[in-house]
Amino acid sequence: MDKELLMAAEIVRLAGNKMQTVDYKVEQKGNRSDLVTDADKAVEDFLTDRLMGLIKGSEVLGEERSHRVPDASDIWVVDPIDGTSNFIRDLGFSGISVGLVRDGEPYGGIIYDPYRDETFIAQRGKGAQLNGKPIRVSDRDFAHSHLCAGMCIYNKRFAKPCFDIIEEIYMQSDDLRCIGSASLELALLAAGRTELYFEMRLYPWDAAAGLVLIREAGGIAECLHSDHFVLDRTFPMIAANNIENFEKLKEIVCRHVPEVPFYEPIS
Ligand code: IPD
Ligand code: CA
Ligand code: CA
Repeated sequence: MDKELLMAAEIVRLAGNKMQTVDYKVEQKGNRSDLVTDADKAVEDFLTDRLMGLIKGSEVLGEERSHRVPDASDIWVVDPIDGTSNFIRDLGFSGISVGLVRDGEPYGGIIYDPYRDETFIAQRGKGAQLNGKPIRVSDRDFAHSHLCAGMCIYNKRFAKPCFDIIEEIYMQSDDLRCIGSASLELALLAAGRTELYFEMRLYPWDAAAGLVLIREAGGIAECLHSDHFVLDRTFPMIAANNIENFEKLKEIVCRHVPEVPFYEPIS
């Protein structure tokens, strides 16, 4: 793997210490579920300062600061705390997600779970690892699969199609998990612990690292109905451990998704 990505993983692990502060304020930034803490901002600022120094000309697009898409060929796409609501409740399911988008496409990804001290890292064409050891998706079929799904908490108008999709998948698979951190859910799939993933609306910072991780671990991950990774919009995302499960998941999701717009601009 590129030394810049390995160094970025060290920086992300250090940022985990900043995240584990107990002294932070909580603010509402959007609807009543959309919260941010001082820790989110501190982690993002810590990462922004250090990541840009790793690759000359690289810039950062992060959740908590400006959403203007940088005009650079290397963009670090940062979710400083993915699973803020879990973090505030001390549930122990939150991670730091850092994707590296090169010339518009996901190139590298780091997802760090500070609670389990697990560092997931992947680079396009170079495989995926967990704490330095190669990882691979599971070989379970659909009927024995676990689905991780996000519930669109910031867009509750999508609740009905989300629940319809999840019910249909649930009836044909083994079980459902709703962990509350999209990036950790994508990392779990890459590590062979779950098999299916669906969320109606993801932000680029939720998905950039997980996409590379799943693809490099042998799975399939797609932002629906787009040939390219987008940095200025939200999108539906699905992922699975193999092509058969992916096609089946996609068929179910696409039957419901056309009822709502595919993409929305990020404000
Ligand atoms: C959210 C979490 C959640 C997912 C949402 C994300 P945040 O990220 O990943 O699991 O369902 O779509 O926005 O706001 O905690 O960084
Ligand atoms: Ca997030
Ligand atoms: Ca976040």
